[in-house]
Order: sequence, then C-alpha cells, then structure tokens
Amino acid sequence: MKKPMFIFAVETSCDDTSVCIMEDNKKILSHITHSQKEHVKFGGIVPELASRSHLSILQKISKKALFEAKLKFGDIDYFCATCGPGLIGSLLVGSIFCKSLSIKGNKPFYPINHLEGHVLSTSFNNNITYPHLVILLTGGHTQIYLMQKLGMYEMLGETLDDAMGEAFDKVGKLIGLRFPGGPKIEKEALLGRDDRFKIPHPLLKEKTLNFSFSGIKNYVNQLVKMNYPVDDIFVKDLSACFQKKMFDIIEHKILYCLEILQQRKIKILQISIVGGVAANQFIKKNLAKSLDKKNIDLLTPLKNMTGDNAAMIAWACSKKIFNSKPNIFFNANPRLELK
Ligand code: KG4
Ligand code: ZN
Repeated sequence: MKKPMFIFAVETSCDDTSVCIMEDNKKILSHITHSQKEHVKFGGIVPELASRSHLSILQKISKKALFEAKLKFGDIDYFCATCGPGLIGSLLVGSIFCKSLSIKGNKPFYPINHLEGHVLSTSFNNNITYPHLVILLTGGHTQIYLMQKLGMYEMLGETLDDAMGEAFDKVGKLIGLRFPGGPKIEKEALLGRDDRFKIPHPLLKEKTLNFSFSGIKNYVNQLVKMNYPVDDIFVKDLSACFQKKMFDIIEHKILYCLEILQQRKIKILQISIVGGVAANQFIKKNLAKSLDKKNIDLLTPLKNMTGDNAAMIAWACSKKIFNSKPNIFFNANPRLELK
C-alpha cells in the first residue's frame, strides 16, 4: 500500500496565525487558526503587534497540530508557507519558521501565494470545470480571475482603491462597529431596512471590470456626520443598505464580465467567490439565486477556508507537488502577484 504523504502548512500573511497538517488525499488531520484579538482596540491591524504575536503563537499551535494529527515531526513529507502578499513582518515570521523546520527535517519547502490559496479554496469541496471564473474578495484584494486551467490565471479586473473587505471594515468603523466590520455589518443588516439610504454605485456606467469603493466610504462618512451621534436603527439600516450595495456591485460586475467573456467565445458554467467576504450569507444566497437564472453554479469555500487559513495553503501545495519544484530560496514578498 502507498504510504500517505503529509503536508505541514503555515499561514501568517496578516493577523491570523494558522497551521494545518493535511494528508495528500485531501484529509485534514489538524487545522488550527488563532485570530489575534489584540488589534481590536486599535480599530485595525498593527503590523508590529501581528509579527510578535505570530512568533509566540506559531510554536504552540504547531506542537498542538502534530499532537492532534497523531504524527511526529519526522513524519512530515512537505513543508509550505504563505510567502506573499501580506505584511512583510508577518510573512517573514511564518515563512522562516517553516523553512527552518524543512531544513531540520531535510524535507522540501514550497512557497505559496496567499491569493492562489484563496483562489483554489473552492476546488477542495467542489469539482471544478474550466474555464472557471473566480471573484476574490478579501480585506486586501478585490480581483476577478479567469482560469482556463489549473494554475493559469488571467486577471480581468481589480479594485482601483480599497478592497471590498476593507470597505466593510472602514464603514463598520464609521458606524461604531468593532473590527473587523464585515461579520458585524452582516449581523446588524439582518434587522435593517435596505432601502433607506441611496448609497452610490461607483463605476456603474463605465465599461470596466475594475472596482472602486472609496466613494462609498466618503458618502458614509458624510452621512454619519449629518446624523451624529448615530442610533441603533441608523446602524442597522446603513448596514443593510451597504451590504445590499456590495451585492449589487458584485452582481453587476459578474454580469458585465460574462458579456465580455461571451464576446471572447468563453462559456462559464461555474463561478467561485473566495476570501473573507465569501463568508457573507446574504451575498452568497442572492448571488446563487441570480446566477442560477443563467444556469451558472456558484461555488464557495468551506467555512473554515473563507478567511485566512493554513488549510487552503496546504491544499494549494498539494497541487504544486506534482508540477513544480520546491524552493526554499523564495523570499517573502509583500506585493506578490498571481500570474
Ligand atoms: O480573506 P481574509 O480573511 O483576509 C485577507 O486576505 O484580507 O478577509 C478578511 C476580510 C475582512 O475585511 C472582513 O471584514 C471580511 O473579510 N469579512 C466579511 C465577512 N467575514 C469576513 N465581510 C462581509 N461579511 C462577512 N460575513
Ligand atoms: Zn486572505
């Protein structure tokens, strides 16, 4: 019988410290993610704090992961870590930690692009058909990728300013919700009216696949000033209107993208939404309904693979083992792109 292969993955691109041990046949033996809470009181991520925190947490959760997986360090066959994009200090801590383990164990190290981890996350729990469209919605990125096959990425559009997750966070902060704003806005929106405020739709009339969110942030800023101090109903209604607008923007962009792809004679049968914002039930439910009318399936990652997590890094590594070489000399790159 073939001996199973074990992958040890580390993700520390921002403020989540995560390790995963995966068996090559997609079995997650252990997956531990620690979300750093020390940033909450600052209303955003403090890079220096994040690096220090990764340093102290990584060792503890790595030991715990081996224990949970019932493995010894020497059983690990492949090591991999996120090497970009992200905060440089955080990336250095995770990647150097994992590279050191690979040297000690004399096993290969694979550098993984964080964006590729997100983009491939839906292929863990779904059978992907190509050409495939991926909408990446995180706190740092908002991009549309066309994948003609595994590992081939064509970026069709991206944000010109803030990312969608960042817009959730900034609007959340303006209306007094704790960081990160995304999940809090979703919760407040449940009891709000989504037709009270006329939130602008940036680039609505432009023939572009790019996004922009800074105008919305300015609009909300003005609105808050005019209604200061805002009450509970205001927070709920604004959350509902903002969340609805985020859905409208994604839907509008996807429909335009499908039009463009049709002109290129590319037929899409599946669309993935990935990244932290893909956890949003309102967006998922309404997008699935809208795409269903076009006979397109909406794919989303498993819940523990939406935010930053090492399982998606292990999974991306499991795809690389067969078609690329390990590279321990790959330097962490805060601006790494996906090409
Ligand atoms: O993918 P992710 O965990 O980290 C990055 O790579 O940036 O995404 C984090 C972002 C944050 O901006 C957070 O507010 C947003 O995802 N987010 C959500 C929800 N859960 C997380 N946005 C909207 N609705 C949610 N339920
Ligand atoms: Zn991410």
